[in-house]
Amino acid sequence: MDQIQEIKSRLDIVEVVREYLPNLKQSGSNWKALCPFHSEKTPSFMVSSEKQIWHCFGCGEGGDVFEFVKKIENVEFGEALRILADKAGVVLKKQDPKLIDKRSRLLELMVVATKFFQAHLWQTNSGAQGLEYLRKRGLEDNTLKEWKLGYAPAKPELLIDFLQKQGYTHLEMEEAGLIIDKGRGNFFNRFTDRVMFPLFNEKGQVVGFTGRLLKDKEGQGKYVNSPQTILYNKSYVLYGLFQAKDSLKQKHEAVVVEGQMDVLTAHQAGFRNTVASSGTALTEFQLDLLKRYADKIIFAFDADQAGRQAVEKATDLALRKGFEIKVAVLPSGRDPDDFIRSSPEQWLSLIAEAPAVMDYFFAIETTGINIDDIKAKKQAAYKLVKIIKKMPDPIDQDFYIKKLSEKLNIDEAVIRGMVASGTDLPSRGQSNTPHKASLPVRQQTSRRFLAWLIGRYDFWQEAINEILPEMLEADLERELYNHLVVYYNNNHSVWGPEIISTDRLEQIFSNKPTLSNLFAALSLLAQDLTANITDPYSRDDFRLLERNLKDGFYRKKLSLLKQELAQAEQAGRSDEVERLTAAISQVLSQLSQISNID
Ligand code: UTP
Ligand code: MN
Repeated sequence: MDQIQEIKSRLDIVEVVREYLPNLKQSGSNWKALCPFHSEKTPSFMVSSEKQIWHCFGCGEGGDVFEFVKKIENVEFGEALRILADKAGVVLKKQDPKLIDKRSRLLELMVVATKFFQAHLWQTNSGAQGLEYLRKRGLEDNTLKEWKLGYAPAKPELLIDFLQKQGYTHLEMEEAGLIIDKGRGNFFNRFTDRVMFPLFNEKGQVVGFTGRLLKDKEGQGKYVNSPQTILYNKSYVLYGLFQAKDSLKQKHEAVVVEGQMDVLTAHQAGFRNTVASSGTALTEFQLDLLKRYADKIIFAFDADQAGRQAVEKATDLALRKGFEIKVAVLPSGRDPDDFIRSSPEQWLSLIAEAPAVMDYFFAIETTGINIDDIKAKKQAAYKLVKIIKKMPDPIDQDFYIKKLSEKLNIDEAVIRGMVASGTDLPSRGQSNTPHKASLPVRQQTSRRFLAWLIGRYDFWQEAINEILPEMLEADLERELYNHLVVYYNNNHSVWGPEIISTDRLEQIFSNKPTLSNLFAALSLLAQDLTANITDPYSRDDFRLLERNLKDGFYRKKLSLLKQELAQAEQAGRSDEVERLTAAISQVLSQLSQISNID
C-alpha cells in the first residue's frame, strides 16, 4: 500500500471535514453542510462516508480527503499530505524512490522513441511521405529538426521490437503511452502511420506525442494524443512553451493559438512567443505555467463559434489570474498557420493591433444593437458586467463601466450596482484564495437531471425520448449522459430496478476516471434526492428539469442564430439570411411547444 492509500485508510473523511465544518449534519447515509467554497443559504455540500468523497452541488467542487484539505487550507498537495499524515499518525518517507526511478526511466524511453520516429521520417520510404507532407505544409527542414518531428511507421512491430532491443519492457512502453495492451500477449501501437509531434514539458523533455494523419481516414481522429501517463497530463502542458521561453521573458506577452501547426508556423516565421493549448480549453495549470514568463496574453483562435467560446472560457480564468488579455480576430475560416504562411506582415499587424478583450466583447455584444430593444440591451449588459466584474484592476473596471453606460445608455450608477453585487467578484491579488462561483444554473440542472436517472429506473424511457445529449450543459455531463443512453439502448429489454444498481452503472465508467468521478458525485446526489423527495413530487421535479433543459437549449440556439443573422445581414449574404430566418422560426415553434405543455 502506498502512503496515500495508507493515510486514507486510517482516516474517515467525515471526521476530517467535521474539524473544519462543525455543523456537518447527517442526511440519510450521507452528511451535509453549507459549502465552505462558495456562498449559499441551503446546504449543497455533501460528504459520503461510504465512498470517502465529498462534493458540492452548488459549485461543482469535489474530490477525496486530500482535495478537501488542499482547498480548505489553500495549500499544494505536498502540504496537504503532511497535514493528513500528521492526523493519521503516518510517518512520511522521503520522496518515493521507486517513482523517481520510474519517471527517469520513462523519460529515457521517450528520448529513444523520439529518435526512432525521427529516423523513420528522415531515412525510410514510408517516412518520406510524411516528410513530403510536412514540407508541403511549408515547414523547413530546420524547423522539423528543432521540434524533433518524426514519423510513426504503419508496421506495428517495428517500434516495439526496437524498444525491446534497447531493453524496455512492454509494460514500460504501455506506461509511456506508446502501446496498448490488448491482453493475451497482444499489443497495439497507439500511433501508426502518422506524423509525430513530440510534446515537450517546460524543461524541454519529451513527455508525450501527438500524431497526425496525412490524409483524412474514416473512423480515425485527425490527431491522436498520448494518454495521461506518469509523465504527461494534457492539462499541464503548453505546446511550444519550452521553445517560446526566451522570447516570452523578453516580451512578457504570449500569443496563444489552438494547434501544433499554428505554433510551428509562427515560430518558423519568427513569432517565437507563440504557444498552443492543443485543442482543449486552457486550464488553470497552463495559465500558472505561462504566468512565470508573461503577464499579457493575446488569443488568436478561429473566428468561428467554437473559437469565440474558447476565448470566453479562457478569458474568464485568465482574468482571475491577473493577465492582461487581447484578442486577435482572424478572418473566418482562417487559422494562424495558413494566415502566417500567406502574409506574415499582416499577422504582425493583426497581433499588434489586437483589441483589448473588453473591446472585443463590447464589439460582439453591442454591434448593431438597438438600444430601444430592452431585451437585447439587458442581455448585452449582463454579459458585459459579468466580465467587468472579473477584472482585477478597479481602474479598468471604472473605465469599462463608463463605456458600457454610454454605449447602451444605462445610468452609470445602475451598472456600478450590478458590478458591486453578487458573489463572484474577483479576489484581488491573491489568486489562490479558495473562491468559487456557483456552477452555472444550467449545469446544475443537468446534474440534477442525471442524478434522477441514476436514482430512478422508471424515469429513463421518457428522458431518453425527450432529452438529447446536447441539451445538457458542459461536455462531461453530455458525455456521461451519452453513455447512459447507450446503456439503456443495450439493456432496455431487461430494464428494471436492478439494472441501474450502482455497481452496474459504475462499470460503465470504470476506466474513465473523470467520468467516474462525476458519476460518484451524481450518485451521492441521487441518494439525497430519492431519500428526501417522494412521489409524485419527484416526477414533477424531473419533468420541470426536462423542460428547463429543453427551454434553455432552444433559447441559446435562438440567440446564436440571431447573432449569426445580424452578421449575415450586415454582410449582405442573402442566402444565409434566408436560411437563418427559416431556422429561427423553427426554433421559435419548438419554444412555443415547450411553453404550451402546461
Ligand atoms: P484543428 O482541427 O483546428 O486542427 O484542431 P489544426 O491545428 O488546424 O491542424 P491542421 O492544420 O488540420 O493540421 C486544433 C487542435 O486541436 C487538437 C490538435 O491539438 C489540433 O492542433 N485536435 C484536433 C486533436 O487533439 N484531435 C483532433 O482530432 C483534432
Ligand atoms: Mn490548420
